[in-house]
Amino acid sequence: MHFSFATIPTFVWVLIAFYVIYWIKKPRLSKNEPPMVPYKIPIIGHTIDYLFNAENFLAECKKKYGDPFNIYVFGQVNTIAGNVTVHEVFRTEAFSMLNATEDIFPLHRVLKSYNLKTLAQVIKTIREGITANLPLLTGRMQKQLLISIDKEIGDCSNPKLVNNEIFPTMVARPVADVLVGQEISKNEDLVKAFAEFTKDFGKILAIPPIFSFINPTFNTQVVTLPVRFGWNPIAKHLDTLKKYLKPELEKRLKDKEVLGDKYEPHLDIVEYFMNNPEYETKVINDEYLDKICEFLFIIVVASIHTTSQHMTSTLYDFAGRPELWDDIYEEQVMIDKECNGELSSQHINKMVKLDSFVRESFRTFDNIASEPHRCMEPFTLKNGMTIPKGRIVQTYLMDIHYNPEAYGPEPRTFFPNHGLENNLSASRTDKNLFMFGSGRHACPGRFFAVNEIKVGLHKIILKYQVKTPSGKTEKKIRVGPVAYPPIAGLIFENRKK
Ligand code: HEM
Ligand SMILES: *[C@@H]1O[C@H](CO)[C@@H](O)[C@H](O)[C@H]1NC(C)=O
Ligand SMILES: *[C@@H]1O[C@H](CO)[C@@H](O)[C@H](O)[C@H]1NC(C)=O
Ligand SMILES: *[C@@H]1O[C@H](CO)[C@@H](O)[C@H](O)[C@H]1NC(C)=O
Repeated sequence: MHFSFATIPTFVWVLIAFYVIYWIKKPRLSKNEPPMVPYKIPIIGHTIDYLFNAENFLAECKKKYGDPFNIYVFGQVNTIAGNVTVHEVFRTEAFSMLNATEDIFPLHRVLKSYNLKTLAQVIKTIREGITANLPLLTGRMQKQLLISIDKEIGDCSNPKLVNNEIFPTMVARPVADVLVGQEISKNEDLVKAFAEFTKDFGKILAIPPIFSFINPTFNTQVVTLPVRFGWNPIAKHLDTLKKYLKPELEKRLKDKEVLGDKYEPHLDIVEYFMNNPEYETKVINDEYLDKICEFLFIIVVASIHTTSQHMTSTLYDFAGRPELWDDIYEEQVMIDKECNGELSSQHINKMVKLDSFVRESFRTFDNIASEPHRCMEPFTLKNGMTIPKGRIVQTYLMDIHYNPEAYGPEPRTFFPNHGLENNLSASRTDKNLFMFGSGRHACPGRFFAVNEIKVGLHKIILKYQVKTPSGKTEKKIRVGPVAYPPIAGLIFENRKK
């Protein structure tokens, strides 16, 4: 082997650089911290285990070190909170979910108005404008889902393999209807903009977080560099929304002026937004248009991808479990007859078997750890351990969702009637189900999301026989500690009448 003298200095430099990073990055723990799980490779720490073997790795850590414990991933110490300490983390304002997502999902880089204050307005809007009006919105939701079933699935006289791509659009139609109203939500390119926004935003995050080994904020800056230089994969969606929204907003302002007290307000978020004293206006200028579009897209980001993932996953769960088909189908037929095909809120509440099935599908979604929270001020747990300021705490979801104390000695079994037997509806958060988080910040959109999933499944099950290609449950996809729906596709066939 030939060694030139020049290779030696390069090698030495690499070594020096490695040790400098090592010294800078050596995890510093404060007093009374949760136990640190030992690791062999400096800098890398537990990153490999966390990315490729999280399920076994975390289970072994918990067995040895209890709850909670610290691990070292992507150059950061993370605290893993299991079924006991997690409740303390979600109950206090000392931890912030928003602050923790900033690094991994830098929405504020593309939606400039995204901050704590806007989020508070968004949450209030969802509660008062969507959740409180759910009964009034049910008919429209049903109509939109039927349009999607017709367009995206259609006639299946012959069995048809349908892939997951239909679900974001299916979920986006009712959301568009509720956000921007019945008129402009008819435009297919607007529905498409809503359906694809989150996926396209995700392109910004296509680079793995390698720079997090140096610093997570630095990593965010690096991955969003292209955005700063003008590349913006979501700009086209903002433009689409603006194009349709501008004439609609102008029309509403004019109608209000002309009709005065006789003006009939629309039931949608645009109307709610314009009536909010904070956002009142006399003219629709670019600044106003930007503000309302960003506001709407914040709701889109929170609602469409999440709901579509779970609608997909529940349908795979149903399709892969023939033993549940008859029971759930019969319930849907009964309700369909009773309402003559026109569902109201009461009818949705009567889908108790479907609801219980959906809840169980949420529980067994199989996320290992997610829902990160950042510690905003040092916090001492009941067991005396202290979590320092700045620390990311990961929610060990698998430990909560497969807790034998709550779900018996075989917690991984699918119990379709668990919710029904325990009077727990799918939208209910509970100390043993963290799909929608917990406590004061629990997902405000969960009632809408569950209704949308139930109405969607109800209509699909009535119309089609749905199977998995293998005839059994299909495997979820895992990326690190996070789960995604299977990708095998689903086979639809018209039901014989
Ligand atoms: C199946 C679908 C959904 C899932 C699994 C889901 C899950 C979650 C989770 C885990 C959180 C964090 C809760 C916490 O910190 O304790 C959350 C927060 C939130 N979700 Fe959802 N969500 C879904 C649908 C929706 C929909 C449809 C909307 C809007 C209509 C929405 C709007 C929000 C908002 C605004 C927050 C922030 C709440 C806060 O910080 O106080 N979500 N969601
Ligand atoms: C927490 O989970 C463990 C299993 O990991 C279980 O033995 C224990 O009973 C659970 N504790 C509570 C309070 O749910
Ligand atoms: C998150 O916390 C850090 C440190 O406390 C702070 O500098 C930053 O502004 C926070 N970000 C948000 C979105 O609250
Ligand atoms: C079931 O739960 C609801 C609230 O979630 C409660 O109002 C109702 O009384 C409960 N029913 C029974 C039989 O416990």
